[in-house]
Amino acid sequence: MSKPRILTGDTPTGKLHLGHYVGSIESRLRLQDKYDCYFLIANMHAFTTRADKPDEIRQSTIEIVKDWLACGIDPDRSTIVLQTEVPAIAELTWFLAMLLPFNRVLRNPTLKTEIEDKGLGDSYSFGFPMYAVGQCADILIFRPELVPVGEDQVAHIEPCREVARRFNQLYCGVDPHTEDGDYVAAGGLFPIPKAEVGRVGRLPGVDGKKMSKSLNNAIYLSDTAKQIKKKVGSIFTGRQTMDEPGDTTNLLFDYVRAFIHDESRVAELEKKYSEGDNIGDGHVKVEVAEAIEKIVGPIRDRRAEFDSPAGEEEIVEIIKAGTKRANLVAEATLYEAKKAMRLDFGGRSLEQR
Ligand code: TRP
Repeated sequence: MSKPRILTGDTPTGKLHLGHYVGSIESRLRLQDKYDCYFLIANMHAFTTRADKPDEIRQSTIEIVKDWLACGIDPDRSTIVLQTEVPAIAELTWFLAMLLPFNRVLRNPTLKTEIEDKGLGDSYSFGFPMYAVGQCADILIFRPELVPVGEDQVAHIEPCREVARRFNQLYCGVDPHTEDGDYVAAGGLFPIPKAEVGRVGRLPGVDGKKMSKSLNNAIYLSDTAKQIKKKVGSIFTGRQTMDEPGDTTNLLFDYVRAFIHDESRVAELEKKYSEGDNIGDGHVKVEVAEAIEKIVGPIRDRRAEFDSPAGEEEIVEIIKAGTKRANLVAEATLYEAKKAMRLDFGGRSLEQR
């Protein structure tokens, strides 16, 4: 029996940060053996807000893959896919766009937050909201069961599930009362995929807002120990002295719980801090920074091995090889989808250079 599939991905808008790591990368590493994994570099989506920066998008594409490999994503076990070289995704996007009401696409809290955080105002491109439909196609073209993502992405998975049900009902004759888990058995083409939110669904940035490159509050997987220390040091709690009872629901303790893996130490820190038992913010920050460095240090070192023209060339080859494999799956899905839509006028085969 073949393994069930996973699809997830990242938009190349810069390097990966700790939010990506605890929200999604950790789950990918955990699931890499049990599932047939597809990891997508959503470079088309990068163009929706940065069409004027092709050089940056290309470099970010390389950097994201460096981050993945450094974290332990293994291109022999998992398939790394470049979105713009999978034409079936763009085609399926069109068909799915017809099955989603325009208002439904725009009523997406993640899109709204992005418009705000990136200061897009009301002059964003037509392609910007379109990416939300594209994301449905990214997922469905691989017919996965699971989509490991951070909490912010759940709002994108919901329309994907809706449009998958709709397609199956409309073109594959599946009864609308069918349970989500039974769609394929009932003759549907697409399984209804489930979001799998990581250990820490939402890790705030060091200023307490959503961790993101545009807000300048992220700790990167490529940061030095010194940068990590400085960023953790900037976390504001408002607490004055080390014998003042502290609030362990604050941002600093979100970091304690996210990164200090020794549970008894976490409990001890929480107790001392809340009782004002002679423990300063500075002390807690040192422990948090050390815990982060323990995760990031080895990633940063492995990542640096690709920081050369030869290393980047190797990355490009990995992208090409993965994308070739991915296209076999994507083309097969598109062929089935078109047949279901009575677009049964012959197929095609792709030739990739
Ligand atoms: N929108 C995701 C992000 O910015 C990236 C992405 C694109 C994605 N297509 C996807 C994630 C499909 C999961 C599944 O992080």
